[in-house]
Amino acid sequence: MDYQAIGQDALARIAGAQTLEAVEALRIEFLGKQGSVSALLKTLGGLSPEERQTTGPKIHALREEVTEALAGAKAALEAAALEARLASETVDLTLPAPEGPRGSVHPVSQVMDELAEIFADMGFAVATGPEIEDDWHNFTALNMPESHPARAMHDTFYLPDRTAEGREMVLRTHTSPVQIRTMLAASGASSDGGGAPVRIIAPGRVYRSDSDATHTPMFHQVEGLVIGKGIHLGHLKWTLETVLKAFFERDDIVLRLRPSYFPFTEPSVEVDTGYSWVDGRRVVGGSGDAPGHAWMELLGSGMVNRHVLEAGGFDPGQWQGFAFGVGVDRLAMLKYGMNDLRAFFDGDVRWLRHYGFSALDVPTLSAGVGVVA
Ligand code: DAH
Repeated sequence: MDYQAIGQDALARIAGAQTLEAVEALRIEFLGKQGSVSALLKTLGGLSPEERQTTGPKIHALREEVTEALAGAKAALEAAALEARLASETVDLTLPAPEGPRGSVHPVSQVMDELAEIFADMGFAVATGPEIEDDWHNFTALNMPESHPARAMHDTFYLPDRTAEGREMVLRTHTSPVQIRTMLAASGASSDGGGAPVRIIAPGRVYRSDSDATHTPMFHQVEGLVIGKGIHLGHLKWTLETVLKAFFERDDIVLRLRPSYFPFTEPSVEVDTGYSWVDGRRVVGGSGDAPGHAWMELLGSGMVNRHVLEAGGFDPGQWQGFAFGVGVDRLAMLKYGMNDLRAFFDGDVRWLRHYGFSALDVPTLSAGVGVVA
């Protein structure tokens, strides 16, 4: 029995093993139950005590050596495998990250944000109010008493409950009640209207019992209110002109103020804008009286009616104001060339992908106004 030859052969073959499987096969061949090194150990029992004293330690040492060689080979191969994996699986951190599915900003939200930003530059704050409103804020305080025909005209959604004061509750038919809430908060700040001047816009949802190609039961408005001393129609016209130029990104916006009637304003004006048709699309710009142009009604506005100022806690002898209300959906259609109002609220993902806007990473001024209670 040449244990030295067995040892040399084992170590040489371990050194030559190329794979982890080969190392494992060698471990079984040498150290397994039937293994050749294990067999050497078994022979010790048949040796004389003297022989066992000299040969025993050598065979044990050989077994140690083979065990270590196997462990070393295994560790080396594992390290090489890891190296290879690291080399092949390198992540290039400079590559753009893969795009996950992303939502988009609805054109209505986009337009409300755009308006909020434009008005913010002019010193306006964003005000909000409840979508479930009481009839005092929605009608009475806006100079529309119980008998007023406009209450029926609006074809309001009434709710079965009443407020603690016994007022009827409605889904607000316009954003104008935010005027009253804002005025009351401002005039309450001191007895002479110390919360003024007031400069707000109020974007949000409004509801009317109406549904056809050009009306949806829910739609969006932006209300505007300015209260100060010496405020007159000129301020209204300049403000609207400046805002619409910024909104439509055109310098040639021409407005026409047409006498009208709203209970909450006196005088009241309807504001028209000139437009023309380009490639089957209405494009605002120019005077409506210019060749190839026409006027289109854009929004309602006027000087705040004295009864409304009083309901808001302001003395009409000292304070004046202007107000306006504009349909956001309509502005969006005009600016971005959409033609069917109902598509706005169908939630068709293809439409949203086409017309939607990518989200800004910064919170916007009117963000979340759609959900205020
Ligand atoms: N509240 C009106 C509506 O919904 C719009 C409106 C007209 C608002 C004139 C105003 C205004 O503030 O002055 O039809």
